[in-house]
Parts: sequence; C-alpha cells; structure tokens
Amino acid sequence: MQRRKFLSSSCKICLLGAAGYSLLNIESCAPASSVFKTTITNGDLNVPLNLLDKNALQIVRPAGWYYDVAIQKNTDNSYTALLLQCTHQENQLTPTGNGYHCSLHGSDFDKQGNVRKGPAELPLHHFDTSVSNNILNIHIKDFKP
Ligand code: FES
Repeated sequence: MQRRKFLSSSCKICLLGAAGYSLLNIESCAPASSVFKTTITNGDLNVPLNLLDKNALQIVRPAGWYYDVAIQKNTDNSYTALLLQCTHQENQLTPTGNGYHCSLHGSDFDKQGNVRKGPAELPLHHFDTSVSNNILNIHIKDFKP
C-alpha cells in the first residue's frame, strides 16, 4: 500500500514538473508573429499597420534579401525597424519575445537593437520609417544588405 501511494505521488509530481517546464519553454520561445513577405517599392518596404494590431512585433522578409527586418511598435506609437543581422559576424538573428538572439556566438540585443550581451559590440542597423494611409514605410533606399 505504501509503495502504491509513493508511486502515485511521484507520478503527480513528475507530471506537474513536466507541465511547468513545458509552459516555461513555450512562453520563452514564443515568436512574436508570422513573417510578412514583401517587395521593395520606390526604395521602401511598405507594411500594413494592421499587422501590428495584435502583436507589437512584426517580422518582414524583403524579396531577395538574406536578412529579415523586425518592426517593433513602441509604447509611444512610434515604430522601430531593425535589420536582423548580427553586428558581430553577420548571422541572421532570431526574435526571442524580448529582443533578438544570435545563435552563432550568443550575442543578445534588446527590442531597440542595443547590445545586451556580446561578443557583438555595435547596435543593430535601424531604418527610418514614416506612416501614410495606414501603411508603415520603411526607408531602405540606399541600403545594401
Ligand atoms: S555572429 Fe552573432 S554573435 Fe557572432
């Protein structure tokens, strides 16, 4: 009887631990949103603002580019557009939910592209943006990825 009770208690503890671990991993790995694919028109990437209604982060993939662009809607309703290219050795970055991570050597950047952890030393490249007719224009005219 004691053995059965011990096994039952142990299994419940294991299940609770596994469930908690799974929830932590799901939350920490949660990407911000799906990828919006678009082309460059007159030197701009044009992104519908309604994509940022539910998520404060939108990943944009310009046709022909190796690197994605992350758009962050800030609390003051301004926008930050960052090239997801690590400034250490040019690896593609991954959104983490509270910034961006480089899987090559472990650099971390915050939501504004500032270095939180090296070896990268420089912040991410920012693009200027403007808004017209519910479209966010990301100005990339002279930028060569
Ligand atoms: S390329 Fe990103 S940390 Fe080295």
